[in-house]
Amino acid sequence: MGYSSLKTGVDVYQAPRGAVDILPGEQPYWRYVEQQAVDICQLYGYGRIDTPVFESTGLFARSIGEETDIVSKEMYSFEDKSGNRLTLRPEGTAPVCRAYIEHGMHNQAQPVKLYYLTPIFRYERPQAGRYRQHYQFGYEAIGDNDPVLDAEVIEMAWRFYEKLGLKNLKLLLNSTGCKKCRPGYLKSLKNYYKEHADDLCKDCRVRLEKNPLRLLDCKRTQCQPLAAAAPGSANNLCPDCEEHFKSLKSYLDLLGLPFSVEHRLVRGLDYYTRTVFEIQPQTGGAQSTIGGGGRYDDLIEELGGKPTPAIGFATGIERIILSLQKQKVAIPPTPMPQAYIASLGEKAGDKAVRLASKLRQDGISALLASGARSLKAQLRQADKLGIRYAVIIGDEELAQGKVMLRDMTTAKQETVAEAELPAKLLY
Ligand code: HAM
Repeated sequence: MGYSSLKTGVDVYQAPRGAVDILPGEQPYWRYVEQQAVDICQLYGYGRIDTPVFESTGLFARSIGEETDIVSKEMYSFEDKSGNRLTLRPEGTAPVCRAYIEHGMHNQAQPVKLYYLTPIFRYERPQAGRYRQHYQFGYEAIGDNDPVLDAEVIEMAWRFYEKLGLKNLKLLLNSTGCKKCRPGYLKSLKNYYKEHADDLCKDCRVRLEKNPLRLLDCKRTQCQPLAAAAPGSANNLCPDCEEHFKSLKSYLDLLGLPFSVEHRLVRGLDYYTRTVFEIQPQTGGAQSTIGGGGRYDDLIEELGGKPTPAIGFATGIERIILSLQKQKVAIPPTPMPQAYIASLGEKAGDKAVRLASKLRQDGISALLASGARSLKAQLRQADKLGIRYAVIIGDEELAQGKVMLRDMTTAKQETVAEAELPAKLLY
């Protein structure tokens, strides 16, 4: 978290490992992605929800699953001064479900559609695109089990990436069944793996007992051929899940979304039922997944609510930005202040303070030169910042009750009355 400076002996702090500062230079990407997220939510009828950064630890343990990596080793959990067990949000779905139940949202028109843009905390091994604090844009549609909603949730994710300008993405789809058909499937999966137990890696031998679905997800090369040949959940569905999956696929065809069914797609959270999906760059493995989601028809009931089907999706903003940068997608720059207010002399300085304030009150962004600097140094700063106009106030302008307006791109100057300034600056 820091180091001791050799020069001064003072401890110098650094951001905690896996957590990063988002500096002004990166902010245009963040504003761009957030704006597109807000826009797409408006198009599809989602309302924003913000939940607390921390929740009861039990909420996550019960919803995500005790055996998952997230709950077993990645949560930032702590006890507060009253002895409450709390956890920094390691994902966004469970808090939204908790809020849905707590605020009686089942009384509203269903499905209730909610979205969030929020920091997420997971104690993972940091690497490119993997952080201990990252941000997610996610949305949940709660209260309907119609497969048309699954298709819409998936389409919304796809259109969001499309609108951002990302290319070469692939959409992976699977159905993991329900309470009725999953036990039978898990049994056949276990039987299959038991026959090959000697060929499994050490971790997978533990998974075989604790969470056999995770065997399909193992990244080790020795386990890949086994996973590829393992029975798939989508081929072991009960008639209702089968019908749901078939119908979802036909809606996706109708919408022209290019999906491929991937029976190894299981996701890292235990609450999923039926539909699961992920969106990945064409080149790159699961580690580069930029977004994923699925149905969780039993979760609200498991958290104490009425039986309520639901589906949702979340995407990591840092991974989106990495992809935008990799694909060199041009994004709108953050606008610079419209005017730089330079002055020479004390009296002119006072006028500059008043003028900057007046322009801002008129809705014109202005940067006031500060520090005793020569006019040349002030103009150099305006130039460096890329500000188009400098407004210069010196003794002469002061005497005339006017200001000098300099176009920094052409170096052309003109004397203008203060009242004319707003019209000139609103280019
Ligand atoms: P998840 O797949 O765990 O799903 O996370 C969603 C996305 O967050 C990932 O696809 C990835 O882009 C990003 N992400 C996850 N971990 C990290 C990390 N350590 N560093 C950077 N980015 C990361 C969920 O969290 C579910 N709640 C999604 C969902 C919503 N399912 C239904 N509704």
